[in-house]
Amino acid sequence: MSTTPVSPQTLAIDGGSPVRETLLPYGRQSVDEDDIQAVVEVLRSAWLTTGPKVGEFEEAFAQRVGAAHAVSFSSGTAALHGAAFAAGLKPGDEAITSPMTFAATANCVLYQGATPIFADVSPDTLNLDPERAAAKITSKTKAILPVDYAGHPADLDAFLEIAGRHGLVVIEDACHALGAEFRGRPVGAIADMTVFSFHPVKHLTTGEGGMVTTNNARLAETLRRFRNHGISSDARQRQSEGQWHYEMVLLGFNYRLTDIACALGLSQLKRLAPNLLRRREIATRYSAAFRDLPGIVPPSLRRETNPAWHLYPIRVDLAKLTADRGQVFRALRAENIGVNVHYIPVHRHPYYRDRFGYRGGEYPIAEDAYERLISLPMFHGMSDEDVQDVIAAVKKVMAAFAL
Ligand SMILES: Cc1ncc(COP(=O)(O)O)c(C=O)c1O
Repeated sequence: MSTTPVSPQTLAIDGGSPVRETLLPYGRQSVDEDDIQAVVEVLRSAWLTTGPKVGEFEEAFAQRVGAAHAVSFSSGTAALHGAAFAAGLKPGDEAITSPMTFAATANCVLYQGATPIFADVSPDTLNLDPERAAAKITSKTKAILPVDYAGHPADLDAFLEIAGRHGLVVIEDACHALGAEFRGRPVGAIADMTVFSFHPVKHLTTGEGGMVTTNNARLAETLRRFRNHGISSDARQRQSEGQWHYEMVLLGFNYRLTDIACALGLSQLKRLAPNLLRRREIATRYSAAFRDLPGIVPPSLRRETNPAWHLYPIRVDLAKLTADRGQVFRALRAENIGVNVHYIPVHRHPYYRDRFGYRGGEYPIAEDAYERLISLPMFHGMSDEDVQDVIAAVKKVMAAFAL
């Protein structure tokens, strides 16, 4: 029986051969032997938690981002909660944030009994738009939470200026932006509080983990207490001082990061610089390959920033394609390119719709972007062949769906 040969242009979703044999995820951690050794040493030591590695990691991290203080947390979400608490958010207060983010950014406001108020994003970066955010300020507003979407810093000077005028706290959600710079300054030393995540797809990982950096000693002390049940000293301090007495001075949580995790973080931090370099190289290669490719719009860069490239989100140009985002997404998946979508705008989640009555259409820029967004694989462990596979698959899919 003769079979018709399948053209290399035939999409895998239509029965063609995929660009690669195995699935390339959109993000993945890199753990090396030094990391493993660092963790094993802690496992053999006296302190698995609240030990010396916590302070060492915090100090090294603060130094890396140029902040006076760094307070570790058990996740980026816990760190956001800590920052919302330290900012003094309480029932009746409002905090303004972006709908184009992971739900945790807005959820931390709800944890404090306050209300998240969304403002639309700028069409180029998809970061919270300062003017639109300023237009939402009321007598109840206490904080603004810009998000460094995909690792591209928000317009921090504009937010600090607005916050200064209205007496607000700026909590920067930099969970995507470790290592990014804004006007030559490192993210982490600019806002009142900056929040990072160490989830495995991030620039460095502790499994789960997070950090808040600040230059304000009072905020740092509140953050430390909040992550330790609201207690004013920790177990190691009490042991070294040979005393048992402690005081719980506020209602906190157990949001501590273990010494095991901090040892991993310290070891990973040593490779942050090459990891960032690699992500920037990958972004440059993608952008060069896609600049003139009809059907997709690569991410925009503002001149005053040096992004950290947590994500590489393209937008499909629906006017130039015979397919919608869902079809492009499925076609890329079939080519074994592990694409993802960041983000379903927060106000479109059922919880937010039911609780606040959002119907859709409130934040048209974020909502329109959402219909077009696809995150391509972006992680520092990608090989040159992986990068080439992504470019080849995008070109193949775009050619098949070109109008
Ligand atoms: C923008 C943003 N904020 C907050 C978080 C929450 O961080 P974590 O997963 O460490 O709790 C994430 C997580 O990926 C995030 O992307």
